[in-house]
Amino acid sequence: MIGDQIVHNKEFTPLFFKTEIDKRVSQLAREIAVEYDGKKPIFIGILNGSFIFASDLFKQVNIEAEITFIKLLSYKGTSSSGHVVRSLGLEESLFNRHVIIIEDIIDTGTTLHSFLPEIMEHQPASLKIATFLTKPSALKYDIKADYVGFEIEDKFVVGYGLDYDGLGRNFNNLYILKDDDSGQTE
Ligand code: XMP
Ligand code: MG
Repeated sequence: MIGDQIVHNKEFTPLFFKTEIDKRVSQLAREIAVEYDGKKPIFIGILNGSFIFASDLFKQVNIEAEITFIKLLSYKGTSSSGHVVRSLGLEESLFNRHVIIIEDIIDTGTTLHSFLPEIMEHQPASLKIATFLTKPSALKYDIKADYVGFEIEDKFVVGYGLDYDGLGRNFNNLYILKDDDSGQTE
């Protein structure tokens, strides 16, 4: 798994190796543990992409904490933004809780821009975002993550939970598309 990977006929090359990822995720977990000690935060992992990051992060946040997972349904709505995102599977009460959203990647920011108001309706005590990756040059909305694993250029990536058309989530390393063709599927 050190060399390039072919996924659906596209060529990807390593961007971050697992050892580097592990180091960064441990750092983030320590920062979060210090900041949230005694606050019993609730992490909300956004499926599917965040499941590996969420797992690696959460098991190293060694304070009293909860985790749950949701799926986001995205569809073209009639609202002015033209993009509506609703969640599936959230059963816990977030009222007065310290909430940390866990994302795999913030690309344009459209998903979180549409979804964060739904979380705010629950009146959490606080709301922060932890994301494995951000693509600052692709960002279209004023979404700022509080904990960021890595900032990357605006190219498609796979591995460590992220997929290209269903494949590649099980790669331990993170891979980036080799040519300029973005290959974006979601
Ligand atoms: P937005 O643009 O709404 O994108 O911030 C967030 C969601 O889009 C998916 N996404 C990617 N998935 N490689 C992937 O495997 C990528 O480079 C990529 N960019 C965006 C992802 O599901 C993310 O939650
Ligand atoms: Mg995702």
